[in-house]
Parts: sequence; C-alpha cells; structure tokens
Amino acid sequence: MAETKKIAVIAGDGIGPEVVAEAEKVLQKVGEVFGYSFETEHALFGGIAIDEKGTPLPQETLDVCKRADAVLLGAVGGPKWDNNPKELRPETGLLGIRKELGLFSNLRPAVVFDCLKDASTLKPEVLEGTDLMVVRELTGGIYFGEKFRRETEHGQEAVDTCAYNVTEVERIARQAFDIAMKRRKKLASVDKANVLETSRLWRETVIRVAEEYPEVELEHVLVDNCAMQLLRRPSSFDVIVTENMFGDILSDEAAMLTGSIGMLASASLGEGSYGLYEPVHGSAPDIAGQGLANPIATILSTALMLRLTFGYGEAADAIERAVAEVLDAGHRTSDIAAGRGDSLSTTQMGELILNAIRK
Ligand code: IPM
Ligand code: MN
Repeated sequence: MAETKKIAVIAGDGIGPEVVAEAEKVLQKVGEVFGYSFETEHALFGGIAIDEKGTPLPQETLDVCKRADAVLLGAVGGPKWDNNPKELRPETGLLGIRKELGLFSNLRPAVVFDCLKDASTLKPEVLEGTDLMVVRELTGGIYFGEKFRRETEHGQEAVDTCAYNVTEVERIARQAFDIAMKRRKKLASVDKANVLETSRLWRETVIRVAEEYPEVELEHVLVDNCAMQLLRRPSSFDVIVTENMFGDILSDEAAMLTGSIGMLASASLGEGSYGLYEPVHGSAPDIAGQGLANPIATILSTALMLRLTFGYGEAADAIERAVAEVLDAGHRTSDIAAGRGDSLSTTQMGELILNAIRK
C-alpha cells in the first residue's frame, strides 16, 4: 500500500457538496484500483462557514488545509450572501485561502472534447483541435493591491491599485514556461503593455525569463487582441500566461470554447507540490440541490490533483479516459446535452465515470 495522502475537502455552497461527493467516490475507486490510500478531512468554507462560524474562512479550515497534502474545493457563494459587507462575503474567503496557502499560479486547461464540439456556441471547424492552458497569476495585481474610498469634490471616489513586482512575475513566468516545455512548447504572454506600467514590467520580465527556455516559442499578445484571437483561432494557442484579472476574464472565455463551464478543471499551485483543486464553475445556486449539476469539472480537477500533487499520472490518465469514454458513449448531463443524448443526474454521471475507471 502506498503512503496515505491527506486531502482537505471544502465542499462549500450551492452545487459544491453535490459535485464534490462524486469526486470523493472517484478518489475511493482510484484507491481500490491502483492501491493508493487517501484520507479526507472536511471543513467549512464560504457561505456555509459565514452562517455557522461567522467568517468565510475560519482559522480551523485553514489549519485543516495546511496539514493536508492537497485541497479539494467545490464552489462558494450565493444570493444569500451577495449583499454582505466585504469581510462576510464568500469570495473574500476564496481570495484569502489563495493568499494564505501561497497559491500564486492557477492552471485552467480548456480542452475541446471531439464529441462535444456541438455543445459550443462556436463553429465546430473553428474549435477543432483546441487544447490550451491558461496560467493565471493568482495572488497579485488589482485583486490584492491597496483599495480605498475617499471623498472628493465630485463625490465619493474608489481606488483599486494594480501592483506587481519582478519576483511575482518571474515565478509565474517560470511555471508557464515549464508547463509549455511539457506541452507543445508555445507560450503566449498576455498583457496591456501599450498602456499599463505593470504590463511593461511583466513583458520585460517574461522576455528575460524566456532566455532560460530557448526551445519555447514566445509571443506577446495584448489582452484585447487575445480576447479576439481566442474566438478566431483557439486551436493555435498552447499555453497562455497572464496576470490575475486578465486571467480571470480570459479563462471564462476559454471555458466557453469547450461548450460548458461544467467541464473545466483547475489547479492552484505554489512553489512545491501542494495544490488546491477546484472546478472553474461557481456554486450555481439556481440548480443547487436538484441533482442537475455536471460533476465532470470536479472529477477532472481530482485527476489534476493526482497528477500534479501526488505524481499519480497513471491514475489521472485513467480518470480522464473514463470521462472521455462516458462522453463518447453519448451520456450527458443537461448542461452539455444540446438536445442530444440522455440528461443524466449528477450521481448517474458520477457512477458511469466510476464504473469506467480501470487500469
Ligand atoms: C474565479 C472567480 C473568483 C475570481 C471570484 C469568485 C473571487 O471568478 O475563481 O475565477 O475572480 O478569482
Ligand atoms: Mn472567474
């Protein structure tokens, strides 16, 4: 038996608990099939933590995460907490956990499954062969810069500061180059260097780091142009690296290339192998508790955890193969049904994938 790996599970709000439950079953199955041992510890996070503990990120949740090898996160937020003050918002917990755990690099792969080309709003021939990875800087930029309000002669003024230092840009650039080296060796660095000082520092730094990676073909793309090129020529992108807010926006756009945000996994990493894994989608309060949610994004996030944190590549491949097999057989949850195939419930989809996992 392999060494027991500890996983902190923070299911969160809305559909979070439903999709996380399916991912936990997958972990157990992988354990049985490959002889791995996982121990999970659950903790409160997000809206439910606000309700029960008075804060979105209780210290004990942080402690559970810190003593684990990896974190599996469902989703947070919902209308119930939308009008709360900033400290009592689930999103504040999300930003806090990223910062506290030092997770500066957010990997969001967008792969168009051949059999799902029809589920996208874009033409199938444009999507053909799309397989890209957005590497988003996650603990800097305008999200974390100084924020304040002040009175002026024109009424209240609000200020959000965008700041990046060289160290922050270097470490995310290296991660992106390292990832590109393991893929098709193409990197698009996205910035707004024609306007922003932070972007000019970003570009200079990326150019310097590029000297360490002569095999990687580097292009610099302005963020507005990138938004356009993603719709025009998505398959030409391999790895995209960008700052926090640009990455937030572009990764949602990239998600829609695949037809459904219900398919997209993500990993948030720091310097070591520790990572937090979560679906890109939110808590979808409108469908919560109805068994309608697509568990694939969370299941694929679990595959990323096995590969990136634990080095269990074979098991990760087995999960990804199982998902592809079930989709190829025509099974669909309603978000990807596009009027074809069955409309499975969350647990039905989970079970089909579970049964398809083999060595
Ligand atoms: C995401 C989300 C978060 C972000 C929000 C909920 C704070 O949109 O993970 O992409 O903007 O980072
Ligand atoms: Mn987002």
